[in-house]
Parts: sequence; structure tokens; C-alpha cells
Amino acid sequence: MGSGGGSPELRWSLLLLLAAGGWAPRGAAAASLPLVVNTWAFRKAAETAWSTLQGGGSELDAVEHGCGQCEIEQCDGSVGYGGSPDEHGETTLDAMIMDGNTMEVGAVADLRRIKNAIGVARKVIQHTKHTLLVGESATMFAESMGFPSEDLTTQKSLSIYLKWLNRSCQPNFRKNVTPDAAKSCGPYKPNEDFRREEQNVLEKTVHIHSHDTIGMIVIGQNGSIAAGTSTNGAVHKIQGRVGDSPIAGAGAYADSTAGAAAATGDGDVMMRFLPSYQAVEYMRAGMEPTEACQKVISRIRRYAPYFFGAVICANTSGSYGAACNKVPGFTQFHFMASSPALRQPSEQIVDCI
Ligand SMILES: *[C@@H]1O[C@H](CO)[C@@H](O)[C@H](O)[C@H]1NC(C)=O
Ligand SMILES: *[C@@H]1O[C@H](CO)[C@@H](O)[C@H](O)[C@H]1NC(C)=O
Ligand SMILES: *[C@@H]1O[C@H](CO)[C@@H](O)[C@H](O)[C@H]1NC(C)=O
Repeated sequence: MGSGGGSPELRWSLLLLLAAGGWAPRGAAAASLPLVVNTWAFRKAAETAWSTLQGGGSELDAVEHGCGQCEIEQCDGSVGYGGSPDEHGETTLDAMIMDGNTMEVGAVADLRRIKNAIGVARKVIQHTKHTLLVGESATMFAESMGFPSEDLTTQKSLSIYLKWLNRSCQPNFRKNVTPDAAKSCGPYKPNEDFRREEQNVLEKTVHIHSHDTIGMIVIGQNGSIAAGTSTNGAVHKIQGRVGDSPIAGAGAYADSTAGAAAATGDGDVMMRFLPSYQAVEYMRAGMEPTEACQKVISRIRRYAPYFFGAVICANTSGSYGAACNKVPGFTQFHFMASSPALRQPSEQIVDCI
């Protein structure tokens, strides 16, 4: 719709058309708003976000409650308590939430003994001038905000941990250490005479589903965009490890003037490319959501051909898409989309590239 062109009658009838639809004339496909898109087939999370919007909640409320639903039901064992025990058997959580109107971000990483990580992330926006709080100190902040301190270990996470110990701590995330991390458990010391060439080789083996995340994009009726993530990180991670999820631009990114994106997969590799930020910038430059997602995947693949990962993208008019890196065992990516056109949260499948 050019602003200068068109007869007055034509413009007037367009206005009537828009008014009759009851939606803001923000984008050509505004009938597809509001929109909720989230990674994986996490249906209840999608339903929770959707019903939050329907009940008059804000986009941030929808992201918080949607991702929070996954924390409660321990989606895939990769979100919330009782999953992905680290090298010492502890579950720690990472989460972030971003307001695409104000560009405020609240995030927590390596959060211990608190179940509702995205709830704490929201409090970082609401009650601090900071962006990211980590570790034991983030736990103290959460407690001061009224979140209960609870043990995040369950029979399941304990059993995953004990089996791993019994497998001589295989697999793990160490390299160039003594004793040889490919054969035994720690404690490890740096191995000074490792060969230089081994240094820069990015992940050559594929670890499907060893680290997933819920990432969510919500676009309200009036075009306000929010995004967020929640995860318990990589199973058997080294203590203190923080992945892509709580990092703005990596795990998720939202800008109400351009769109939003969220990423899932091998965060250690993906976070180096700020894939969510990059996807939003591609959309700002005019790329369609699917294409923006694909371009981001291609960029990472140039350096890490076997990385496990997927990205979801949505533009300001409510079009959305996704892309994933095709590796043995991961050829399709499932995600959820909810919009008036879809009527109810529905599972979407995209072929990896
Ligand atoms: C849209 O609604 C949100 C609340 O959901 C509000 O914060 C925001 O200011 C509104 N944006 C516009 C452009 O009206
Ligand atoms: C440890 O592994 C051995 C085989 O290597 C198996 O026989 C044993 O049952 C395992 N123990 C536990 C506690 O998983
Ligand atoms: C969003 O993407 C769709 C195609 O998927 C396109 O038709 C539409 O113009 C895009 N919206 C914006 C604001 O770029």
C-alpha cells in the first residue's frame, strides 16, 4: 500500500475494510494476529500462552505463562527441574524474556533451586535496572522476590546422573585434559601438550536432543512483540556453563518494529552467531520469515556442518516460519503455531535444510 498513490475513494474503502476487520492496519496480513509460535511440539505451552492472550493478558504475560507451563510439566526433560543434571548431578536453569516494544530484557542463568526461571527473568525486567543475573546470586534475588527455594533434583535426574557416572562420565564437554576425558571421569587438569589442530574443530559428532529449549514468540493484536526461552541446559554440562537461551539475540530476540526469533539446539555453537538477532535483522531488511530462518542456519553450518539446531521466525504482520540443520537423525523440526487463522494451537513441521 503506497502512502501517496491510490484515489481517495480507494483509500477510504481500504480504511473501511480494515476497520470492519477490527484490527490495526499495521501489516498486510494483520488478520493472522495475534500469533504465538514456539519451538517443538510443546502443545500445552502453546495453549497456555494462547489462553493468556485470550484472557486479556499482555504479550509478556503470554510468554511467561507459556514457557512457565513447560517448566511445570518438565517438557522433554529439557525444561524445568529434574532434567539435564550437570557434572555434579545438579539441575540448574536458564531463562530470558524480552519486550519488543521497549527492548528490555530480563534473564537468569545457572539459576539454582528455583523452579520458575522465566518468572524470575520477568522480575528482572520489572524490579531491576539489570538484564542478566546468574548463579547463586540470582537465586538470592529470586528468593527476595518471593520464589520458593526447592531441590531441583528428582529420581529421574539422579538416575541419569548415576548412569553417566557408571559410564565413566561419557559423554562430557571436556577436551585437552588429563586424565583423558574420552575415557574417564575427572577431576581433570589441563593437558599442556595437546595438539594445536584439535583446538578449533567445531563439534563433529551429532548430539540429537541432548539439549532442547522452549523458545516462544508472541505477537499481540496491536503488533506488540515479546519473546522468551526456558531450559535446563545441556545434560552433563560443566558447572557454570551457560548456553544460548538466556542471551538476548542468541536464544531469542524481539523487536516490535521488525519481528522476532528464537533458537533451539546446540547452544554452545549457536550462541556464537547470535542467530535470533540475525534472523530479526534479515526480516527488517525485507526477508520473509522462513527465508530469514534458513539464512541463519546456513551461516552457522558453514563453520559447524553437523550442528544440531533450529530457529523459529515471525515478522510484524504475523507470518512465521522455521528452519533446521539437517543431520542424521534430525531431518524434520516440529513446532507449534497459534493464530486466529489456525483456530487452535497446531503442530507445524518443517523439513530441515
Ligand atoms: C499494545 O498492547 C500492549 C499491551 O498488551 C501495550 O503495552 C502496548 O503499548 C500496545 N501498543 C500499542 C502500539 O498500542
Ligand atoms: C553399571 O554398568 C554395568 C555395566 O558396565 C552394569 O552391569 C551395572 O548394572 C551398572 N550399574 C548401575 C548402577 O547402573
Ligand atoms: C511478512 O512475511 C510475509 C510472507 O511470509 C510477507 O507477505 C509480508 O509482507 C511480511 N511482512 C512484513 C511486514 O514484512
